Formats: sequence, C-alpha cells, structure tokens
Amino acid sequence: MQVVKTISEIRKIRPKLAEPVGFVPTMGYLHQGHLSLVRYARVENRSLVVSIFVNPTQFGPSEDFERYPRDTECDLALLENERVDIVFMPSAAEMYPPRFNSWVEVSHVTERLEGASRPGHFKGVTTVVCKLFNILQPNVAYFGQKDAQQALVIKKMVAELNMDLKIVTLPTVRESDGLAMSSRNTYLNPKERQAALVLHQALNLAQKLFSEGERDASRLRREMLSLIGKEPLAKPDYVSVADTETLEELDTLTLPALVSLAVKIGKTRLIDNVMLE
Ligand code: PAJ
Repeated sequence: MQVVKTISEIRKIRPKLAEPVGFVPTMGYLHQGHLSLVRYARVENRSLVVSIFVNPTQFGPSEDFERYPRDTECDLALLENERVDIVFMPSAAEMYPPRFNSWVEVSHVTERLEGASRPGHFKGVTTVVCKLFNILQPNVAYFGQKDAQQALVIKKMVAELNMDLKIVTLPTVRESDGLAMSSRNTYLNPKERQAALVLHQALNLAQKLFSEGERDASRLRREMLSLIGKEPLAKPDYVSVADTETLEELDTLTLPALVSLAVKIGKTRLIDNVMLE
C-alpha cells in the first residue's frame, strides 16, 4: 500500500494503475461503515484508492472541523489490512492553495434537509469530490446510503456535469443495537449513546406504520417527532418523508420514499435514514 500526499505524485502513479480503478472518499477515523465500502470496492476493481481528507470547506464556521476525530495510524493499518493499493491523504494547503476561488455547486436538492440545516455544506462536498475525481480519475466511486442526500447530490453532479465514472451507493452499516455507524458517535458519552438509539427507533416506527398501511406522510413525521420528544437528551433538527429524487416533502406516501432525520443528542448532531420501497 502506497500513501500519497501530493497531487503531482498521484499524477505519476495513476497511469500505471490497472483498470478499473475503484475509489472510496472518506474523512478518516474509519469504522465498519467505511470498511464495507472498501471491501465491496476491493472485489469489484483491479486497483483501489481510498482518500482520507477532513475537508474544511464542508464544515460551517460553528461546526466541528477542529475537533473532528482523527487517527491516521489506525486508519492506515485498517486500509492495509483491506489490501488497498493507494491512500491519498493530501494536506488542506494541497487541496486549497491561497486564493482558491473555484466551486462546484448543485442547486435545488442541496437546499433541503442537510443543506437547509448546514448552509454551504454541499458546496464544500461537491467541490472536494469533484477535485478528487479530477485528481484520481476513478472508474467507479463508492458512497454510503447513511448520507443519502450526499449520494444523491454526487450522482446528480456526475450526471449533469458529464463526469466519466460510475457512482455506487451501498447500505448503511449499523451497530448491533441499530445505531448507524458514524465517526461522530465517538462524541457521545454513555447516556447519550443510549439516547442516540432514538433515531433508529423513529425510523423503525415509520417503517412499521407504513407496513400497517399508513399512507399519510405527515402522520409519519408527527409520530416520529412524538417518539423523539420522549427522549430528554434528543432535540430533533428535522424529520422528513420525501421524494427520493427531488427530496420534496410528501403529503401522501408514494414509493420509493426517503424517511430521514437529523437529531441533536446533547451537542452531537446525528443523521440517519431509511428508504421505503
Ligand atoms: P465520511 O463521513 O468519512 O464518509 C465516507 C463515506 O462512508 C461516505 O460515502 C459515507 O456515506 C460512508 N459511510 C459513513 N458511515 C457509514 C455507515 N454507517 N454505513 C455505510 N456507509 C457509511 O462523507 C464523507 O466522509 C465526506 O462528505 C466526503 C464524501 C469524503 C467528502 O469530503
């Protein structure tokens, strides 16, 4: 496994990589969710590149960029074990030199849900992902359904800007009690960790109501909010039952639908979702 820190170095290596080249972009502090993408990509590709870059432009000024968890040594050991070929680990200065002024922005679907709560977030995501695609020239890139809106936004960017690669979305990996794996789970103290189960419970409730025949989307949102309201450490940011393409809120449930939510557990903001199909 080769660890590469500069764009000039990767440009020399890329032409020598056997195709197809698979790519998994990450911000590091890797868990089984990340590793599920890496394992899937390893089987499907002759070469496998993983990036680790905590992208400053996708964090808001009052968000957790500075304290975002980092453990490069552990990440590299995990990736080595998965037989990754190249780890691309640029510095912020390498990715954003002084007077950096070029941005990639997808409108509309980025204005809802995460985009509404985190202004500028997706502009940072699409810009860095576009840069990584340009630098690494992958044939296929892998994203997690855990960040459903992010996967949708990336697919839209790739299609509409005619980028020549395939985007694959893979299922959310959960802890045994249902909590979706996330690097941010490390912020939770034991009481908060227990309270965080309310996200998964609310999604389960929505699925149960749906399977019992409920088709009123606002009732689903209401029942989920009421369940979250019973957990004193939880503060809902949004609860959504939306069209999977436009992310517009639904009145009557039509399939497929994306049920998603963001909830603050203490100071930690967590997201999760489930697709009704
Ligand atoms: P990060 O949060 O590190 O996630 C990297 C990839 O892992 C994303 O595609 C995310 O959806 C996926 N992932 C995270 N938790 C998962 C889980 N529990 N199950 C399955 N997949 C999971 O998402 C980002 O980084 C950044 O925004 C990035 C795309 C790297 C751009 O900076």
